[in-house]
Amino acid sequence: MRGRPQVTIVGSGRVGTACALFLMMRNLCDIRLIDVVQGLPQGEALDISHAASILGIDVNIEGSNDLKDVEGSDIVIITAGFARKPGMTREELAIENGKIVKEICEKIREHARESIVIVVTNPVDIMTNVALKVLGFPRERVIGFSGILDSGRYRYFIAKRLGVSVRSIEAYVLGQHGEKMIPLVSNCRVCGIPIVKILPQEEIEEIRRRVIKAGEEIIKLKGWSASHAVGAGVSELVEDILKDRRKLENVSIMLRGEYGVDNVVAEVVAVIGKDGVVKVVELEMSEEERKAFQESIEWIREVTGKVLVSLGLA
Ligand code: LAC
Repeated sequence: MRGRPQVTIVGSGRVGTACALFLMMRNLCDIRLIDVVQGLPQGEALDISHAASILGIDVNIEGSNDLKDVEGSDIVIITAGFARKPGMTREELAIENGKIVKEICEKIREHARESIVIVVTNPVDIMTNVALKVLGFPRERVIGFSGILDSGRYRYFIAKRLGVSVRSIEAYVLGQHGEKMIPLVSNCRVCGIPIVKILPQEEIEEIRRRVIKAGEEIIKLKGWSASHAVGAGVSELVEDILKDRRKLENVSIMLRGEYGVDNVVAEVVAVIGKDGVVKVVELEMSEEERKAFQESIEWIREVTGKVLVSLGLA
């Protein structure tokens, strides 16, 4: 009999560790943490194992310094990479992190050919494209994470403003994960009622700005990037896959004709099941949103092109 699903997290920094912690709490799978730093993944694995014991959860969590240990994984989550340093452009960050993602994906291709890969490393849209190129997997099995974070933030700000549960809000974000993301207004609803009938335009715009700047706001406040919400979101995506939930999620995937876009990875809404992305669902947009989406896509296309060339992948 096959044992519990195996999920491997590459990168044991704050983000990788948060993913491991939330996954452990969901009691879905065994977990492996891999990092280049000696002792770090082993130490985090032990600490999280003790946390699991206190919660009464029986789970195997291991740490390793060897990328070959992605072997046997059903899902591999890539969180390794640098955070943006002051003065560094997104393009420079993309090239540095691209080298790391490339090296990791070469090992995944060799040792975990059937896995589903979730890319978390930023800039996520570009890193997902790099991963797809190196892995050569079908696009359905190479999923960029960030949309769940962005739409979670969008729902949070609306829910707080209105004093209702986040569960009553439907809100999605399309395009780039960054300055050019588009928190959609035209299909944002509270219990089925369009948000434009509930809040004045200026307040909606203020909330949208807050969503777009949320990552930056957190870095300024606590000194490093968001991690808890990333762990929560990634573990939700893993549960969607392992339980074949067919839930609609905001994820980044290679577009092949959807929204009239070809060969660009961007945030969209998709049905998620046991084999990864089941289907991309095309949302309606206003004229203005469609224009902003196109601009977002062109930015991703241009920067991705330069990064792929510099990594020798074009
Ligand atoms: C953020 C970073 C993690 O949006 O992309 O917080």
